[in-house]
Amino acid sequence: MFKLSKDGLEKIKKELTRYETRRSAILPALYIAQSENDGWISPDVVMHLSEVMEIPISHISEVLTFYTMYNKKPVGKHHIQVCTNVACCMAGSREIVKHLCTTLNIHEDELSADKKFTVTRVECLGSCNTGPVVQINHDDYIENMSIEKMDKLLKELQ
Ligand code: FES
Repeated sequence: MFKLSKDGLEKIKKELTRYETRRSAILPALYIAQSENDGWISPDVVMHLSEVMEIPISHISEVLTFYTMYNKKPVGKHHIQVCTNVACCMAGSREIVKHLCTTLNIHEDELSADKKFTVTRVECLGSCNTGPVVQINHDDYIENMSIEKMDKLLKELQ
């Protein structure tokens, strides 16, 4: 059963005081909870947030299903998110996704057997002129990605 850490709980309580309505704190709360639950939001995370935030489960679930930055199933330690929007596709991002899946022997959105990797296609990462752009977990962005650069990165992440 998921439970927030003391620090996570404090952060969420602080978020609840920042907005006029409690519902506005759902986005940051999900982000905090996801980082404390191995990168994904399970049903018991939603239940726990509902209790501590005093917000109905249905309201939290609505937000969770709308936004793609929350993972609804387990992801690898290294969640490799490849932008496959138009500009990045033109620069070869689809080939990078294919190469990753072949090299790691997984399908898209699947957890690798060693639980280290998940490969996901995502929408525009906001740097269209430096594509292909790849995001690893929450805050690591790599621009001008190539198959060679990806292979080097995979070796570092193994
Ligand atoms: S299209 Fe890939 S970053 Fe915008």
